[in-house]
Amino acid sequence: MRDCFELRDTDAGGRIGELRVPRADVTVETPALLPVINPNLQTISPRRLADEFGAEMLITNSYIIHNTDSLRERALEEGLHDMLDFPGAIMTDSGSFQLSEYGEITVTTEEILEFQYEIGSDVGTPVDIPTPPDVSRERAASELETTKERLEVAEGVDVGDMLVNAPVQGSTYPDLREDAARHADATVLDVFPVGAVVPLMNDYRYADMVDVVAAAKRGLGADAPVHLFGAGHPMMFALAVAMGCDLFDSAAYALYARDDRYLTVRGTRHLDDLDYLPCSCPVCTAHDPDDLRSIPDEDREEALAAHNLHVTFEEIRRIKQAIRAGNLLELVEQRARAHPAMLDGYRALLDHAEQLERTDPVSKGSFFYTSHESARRPEVIRHHERLARLEVPDAVFLTEGDPSSAGEYDDSWRVEPPFGPFPRALSKSYPLTAEVPDRTDRAALEAAARGVARLVEANPDSEFTLGHRGWPEGVLEALPDGVETIDLTRDR
Ligand code: GUN
Ligand code: ZN
Repeated sequence: MRDCFELRDTDAGGRIGELRVPRADVTVETPALLPVINPNLQTISPRRLADEFGAEMLITNSYIIHNTDSLRERALEEGLHDMLDFPGAIMTDSGSFQLSEYGEITVTTEEILEFQYEIGSDVGTPVDIPTPPDVSRERAASELETTKERLEVAEGVDVGDMLVNAPVQGSTYPDLREDAARHADATVLDVFPVGAVVPLMNDYRYADMVDVVAAAKRGLGADAPVHLFGAGHPMMFALAVAMGCDLFDSAAYALYARDDRYLTVRGTRHLDDLDYLPCSCPVCTAHDPDDLRSIPDEDREEALAAHNLHVTFEEIRRIKQAIRAGNLLELVEQRARAHPAMLDGYRALLDHAEQLERTDPVSKGSFFYTSHESARRPEVIRHHERLARLEVPDAVFLTEGDPSSAGEYDDSWRVEPPFGPFPRALSKSYPLTAEVPDRTDRAALEAAARGVARLVEANPDSEFTLGHRGWPEGVLEALPDGVETIDLTRDR
């Protein structure tokens, strides 16, 4: 039983949780965004991150501190919290990212974990190996063995009440990711970052990111806090949260600001291309694009970094509110429209709808059908599973129309795309209260036909008649043999 993390609310695979960080004596609400602080150059000071942006936790790199004499001495003397002047929780990375960039580093897991402990880190990290995507299976498997050994070494290091990350590697091999996650979950370590996804993000491979996270989640317990290592673009947070990620770290706010790039939840814009600022944060209300372009480089970088952070934290709050309201997937669906690669990510999420269905609440506020992808949501799959267990009398009329025409049948059930049939008594229960556009699409009709098929297959001795509003021939053909159909839109 892991006692540092508690779930408060869930929606699809997403959750609101509380991460208890004993060494900092704080509780961090998740989903949480950890701004990345480069100990050598701070675009926005940690004090400002806490006071102005409400950052409860940040992440910095213990390896850079360890290898820079002046920082190392100060950190050992004053401690990380005083050195950075940050009142919340501090996570430290180990140098693994440098390892993946430069091929080698000069510390062991034992040394760097002890150092992280000595400088007062609240969440430390072993030296995992961030195996990139698409490498040979042999390499992914053998590097994963090394990462696993290092997690086992980490278990033996005395770190007091510092929490320790157990990164999950395995490249783009779902079975290796799942195995890595199972192994990590069985250690005494505390937080579970999904590692080496930065190359996927940089190449807009959101569908592959979703598959990697889905695989890791299969190997982790529901009570495992999951961090998406190095993921910082607000456009993809909703998608990653819906897959079950709880923590993010963003260097993007500062890195992008350096190149005059302006973050929005619909993607990144270059300051040179903006005629208007589509944001009402303090930076964007005080400036227009021309002002921003004309201020000195350093001030502009800071202003853009501040805007980028405002957008990023705003999106985290929006996601938390969506989880509370039970409409996280509607938000993911909106974000999916920002870029075809995001749409691919959302479609990949729906490929895992059965996995998400297990944590999706049975009842929520509303189901809005806002794209043909909605027909593949976990709620639809759950309703179809239910239909496979429902019993009907000998002769049933399933109809999109008026129940009064059902005189000659034993019972009349309602039919609503994308769910399909259901007893009228369920009409007022989630998700059958869904708001669906009148101008239905084919995906919704096909899903409804699948629902009919599930009910028919579960009741082989009953007779079914379907009253539909002009379903096309191709959809009707998918119904099981023996279902009689009546087109309610035709004169009879
Ligand atoms: N930062 C971004 N990706 C990674 C990773 O895979 N491991 C570690 N330790 N840090 C990272
Ligand atoms: Zn702004």
